[in-house]
Amino acid sequence: MKNDFPILSNGKIAYLDNSATTQKPRAVIDAVQKYYETQNANPLRGAYRWSVEATQKIEDARKKIAKFINAKSASEIIFTKNATESLNLVAYSFGRENLNLGDEILISIAEHHSNLVPWQILAKSTGAILKYIRLDSHGNFLEPDINSKTKIVAVTQISNVLGIKNDLSKIIERAHEFGAVVVVDGAQSVPHLKTDVQKLDCDFLAFSGHKMLAPMGIGVLYGRKKFLESMPPFLAGGEMIEYVEEQSTTFADLPHKFEAGTQNVGGAIGISTAIDYLETIGFEKIESIEQDLLDYAIPKLRDLKFIDLYGCDVENKIGIIAFNVKDVHPHDVATILDKNGVAIRAGDHCAQPLHRFLNLNSSCRASFYFYNTREDIDRLIDALKNVRKVMRLE
Ligand SMILES: Cc1ncc(COP(=O)(O)O)c(C=O)c1O
Repeated sequence: MKNDFPILSNGKIAYLDNSATTQKPRAVIDAVQKYYETQNANPLRGAYRWSVEATQKIEDARKKIAKFINAKSASEIIFTKNATESLNLVAYSFGRENLNLGDEILISIAEHHSNLVPWQILAKSTGAILKYIRLDSHGNFLEPDINSKTKIVAVTQISNVLGIKNDLSKIIERAHEFGAVVVVDGAQSVPHLKTDVQKLDCDFLAFSGHKMLAPMGIGVLYGRKKFLESMPPFLAGGEMIEYVEEQSTTFADLPHKFEAGTQNVGGAIGISTAIDYLETIGFEKIESIEQDLLDYAIPKLRDLKFIDLYGCDVENKIGIIAFNVKDVHPHDVATILDKNGVAIRAGDHCAQPLHRFLNLNSSCRASFYFYNTREDIDRLIDALKNVRKVMRLE
């Protein structure tokens, strides 16, 4: 499938940083380019054909996303610029309205900063208490403390460092028993697993287009209608209004109440085309390719005695592998790998509390998508064999 991805098709780079962002297939690039070459106009504002068509493109994309994640209604799909903005929207609009002194917000220690810092800020501004679900020695969630004070549970479906798939069903059931609202960070799960928000029974789900083949700058917030309807707007400005008087405003209905300003039509076309592409392959195949890559990579990495692996002795995992090369800083590892044509991520991956919990400063991360091949992994392994030699450690 690499031939569908112009940036990968010359085979020069083994791209293993898919958790940061995925590459874009020709179909997505062409659809976005065609829009700018033949139709571009400001949506929702114009009465002329291009503008009407731009509006239609956004609404078609919204319907496609609703179907893709099995939302009950397209009005439960809010366009944002990324998962981070989606999570902030919930923290500000839902959190500030509904939290009081002493209420509890529960997140996990495995959260990306995007699903951690907004809750910290919310806790500070409302007097709520931020609590954490810790992990067992394999990286799985320990029993969460959900009680009558818990008002918001915000958890990732898949950790962007450990790649572990968290079974959220019990957490969601228990949270709902206590009347808490559940926010799921789907940034790493929606691109890799079939998502069904009704089955999952979450109240909010956040994800980014650029991690699932679409361009950067388009993200999604799914929200249960009854919550979205009760929430005040997050950002204010054009097209999120109904009537504006000198001293007051009434707001548009869902979903536009949460979409202030000019929307990203090119991004909406991109994510819509990306969904078509993903659905043509099918999530069964995507999951099985990633599983094959994991099954191939982990034993090979284990054979390298100078590698420490994290979160790799579990079955419930997608193609994300965090590791360190003994005595070598991850930035040096990534730089040496780059010289060998292998792109990985190095650092704390926006998950500093998780790294501290694991007693690490930083780590390397190789993350796969369905277009990766066993050959990419061979290249990673060969390049890793070089690292300690380059560093003159052997
Ligand atoms: C688990 C998780 N949540 C949230 C985000 C934030 O995504 P974005 O930067 O696209 O907003 C990321 C990005 O890596 C992530 O991995």
